[in-house]
Amino acid sequence: MAAPSRAQDDIEQKVNDLLGKMTLEEKVGQLNMVSNGPLLRWDDLSSGRAGAVLNFNNAQDIARAQAAARQSRLKIPLLFGLDILHGFRTQFPLPLGEAAAFNPRLSRLASEWAAREASYIGVQWTFAPMADLSRDSRWGRIVEGFGEDPYLGSVLTAARVEGFRKGGLATATKHFAGYGAPQGGRDYDTTYIPRAEMYDTYLPPFRAAVEAGSESFMAAFNALNGVPSTANPWLQTEVLRRQWGFDGFITSDWAGIKELIGHGVAADGAEAARKAILAGVDMDMMGDLYIRHLPDEVRAGRVPESVVDEAARRVLRTKMRLGLFDRPDADPTHVDSVFPSPEARAAARDVARETLVLLQNRNDVLPIPATARSVAVVGPLADAPQDQFGPHGARGHAQDTVSILEGIRRRAAGAGLQVRYAPGCDLFCRSQDRLPEALEAARASDMVIAVFGEPVDLSGEAASRAHMVLNGHQAEILKALAATGKPVALVIVGGRPLELGKLTDLIPAILMAWYPGSEGGTAVADILFGDVSPSGKLPVSWPRTVGQLPLYYNRLPTGRPTLEHNRFTLKYVDEAITPLYPFGWGLSYTRFTYTDPAILKQRLRAGEVLEVAVTVTNAGARAGQEVVQLYTRDPIASRSRPLRELKAFEKIALAPGEAKRVILRVPVDSLGFHQDDGTYRVEEGAIQVFVGGNSLAEQVGEVSILETIIRPGSGQRASASTLAQ
Ligand code: BGC
Repeated sequence: MAAPSRAQDDIEQKVNDLLGKMTLEEKVGQLNMVSNGPLLRWDDLSSGRAGAVLNFNNAQDIARAQAAARQSRLKIPLLFGLDILHGFRTQFPLPLGEAAAFNPRLSRLASEWAAREASYIGVQWTFAPMADLSRDSRWGRIVEGFGEDPYLGSVLTAARVEGFRKGGLATATKHFAGYGAPQGGRDYDTTYIPRAEMYDTYLPPFRAAVEAGSESFMAAFNALNGVPSTANPWLQTEVLRRQWGFDGFITSDWAGIKELIGHGVAADGAEAARKAILAGVDMDMMGDLYIRHLPDEVRAGRVPESVVDEAARRVLRTKMRLGLFDRPDADPTHVDSVFPSPEARAAARDVARETLVLLQNRNDVLPIPATARSVAVVGPLADAPQDQFGPHGARGHAQDTVSILEGIRRRAAGAGLQVRYAPGCDLFCRSQDRLPEALEAARASDMVIAVFGEPVDLSGEAASRAHMVLNGHQAEILKALAATGKPVALVIVGGRPLELGKLTDLIPAILMAWYPGSEGGTAVADILFGDVSPSGKLPVSWPRTVGQLPLYYNRLPTGRPTLEHNRFTLKYVDEAITPLYPFGWGLSYTRFTYTDPAILKQRLRAGEVLEVAVTVTNAGARAGQEVVQLYTRDPIASRSRPLRELKAFEKIALAPGEAKRVILRVPVDSLGFHQDDGTYRVEEGAIQVFVGGNSLAEQVGEVSILETIIRPGSGQRASASTLAQ
């Protein structure tokens, strides 16, 4: 942490003065967060019994609640929090989709817009970004994060924190920690992750959030290695505060403190409150336990008053840093209907275009050829604007949204192309009754754009899936469409990779659209019609079947690597061992070649930077963007190291025929791994280097690390080359 500045000293002084005036009850009041809704007691706001609130989403209510807080004895302003993940009124693509853009500039932009709109009506604090790494797409909340890679996750989490702040929102980085690895992919279930693996894989994005200045953290619901995260001193106090120097505050998740009783580590509310605050959780979101029990716990000597003081100090410090004591209250005349503005729409479209991943495109079925005279659009998700938002749609309105059907229609009108629409089935595809009209539309048209996938109810919190197939009768409908003999392009709307089975053989072109947001329809049309080449890359390995999960590219080697003709090697007897599409995968309408790779310096010491140059050429006839990816492997170390680890990437735009020399940089100090106590080691010896357009990239050489570097209790950092973009 940097040395305290004058301004920080002033804040500490003011916080101490204020704390000196507060009663125990008032201090505990600052640690209580309550939700708007039928259970809200307005008295709590006007009597200093609440320090923060959530779920106020319009300026009038926010102004009224703040006015109530101003009536309390010390007039301490409330902090207004809300789940703003990917937009407020203007919906940007879901975080997992946004991650597929591999573009921190766009992540910053999307978060900035979300924050600008939400802060306009008085929201001050978002419960985002979600920094939970997940290697298991059964877990519905994978959609709220960045996927399976710690480096990508670190870069994007930092970008999101910065973007939210720029747009006017403080962040609560969540869910600390290990929430993305529940057993069986079941939301809320327990997680077992060895500490070294926590440091190497699950914690780096959180650490990146601290370094980017995230003001607060949210504890996770899950138990980590048997200790619930909400009562886990190792996570909250040892790692976050002591090792990383975080001095903001930590809130529980919704009723997370009360749930310590369910976890079986507290007999009653008083014990739950005591355990949570002693572990380092400062604020109780909708548990009502701190406010009810902490004063008595202090008076009985079971919780030192200094612990409550420190928690209240962290909350007040954050409020002062955010300027809440000085800023005017929300202007009640502000309404979110001034959005989406044309600029916000343009930004949403720019982001959405880069999130679409072209998974396959046999026979160049896409883009829609200029010779086509008509197209059949089939599938309920083509005309489901609300589902385009994905979970946490905030104040997104269906009527503000360009559906995929609408986007195609508008673009087709300009091209003189006839569009026939037939949903084929209802949103959940419960029957095939409407198949005949879809087949008729297909037969009468030159090609089919099928829009299927996962309605929003099947994604997000509490939406774990044991079956990851296209639900209902979608697969049968797609097979019937393919059997018409018309070229079919499938656009998948959804929050996770889905099991595609035989469809990958039957359907030549597949485009993953995730939940693309308010401008999803225009963005999808931009890609389908070839106005823009797809440039998204998968932030998760796409499994062939659910039985392969968890599945991730950066896995460890085994003593029995897969050999096709040897049964006693790593494999399934009934399925391939590889994913259907690997991490980092995504096609374009053009082709990129990689030539002349060069490692600029072969022998490296601590503090130096591994630099790899490569020439990337657009060898096709269309403009496009490519994500140039660098992976490393430490082939011999004191502990098994992953077969590949993403260490740097850069997204570049190339005109047809254009070539660029790209230099990717990786600090030598980030080429190591952790031990259980948090010590970080970069070991002397060889590091292999791979560069290319996905995680199957070719090896381009090897460098030697000349000395072992040991850093106590620290974590991996994102490489400067990518963060600077
Ligand atoms: C979720 C959090 C969210 C909170 C408040 C919880 O159920 O786990 O991610 O921020 O609700 O809405």
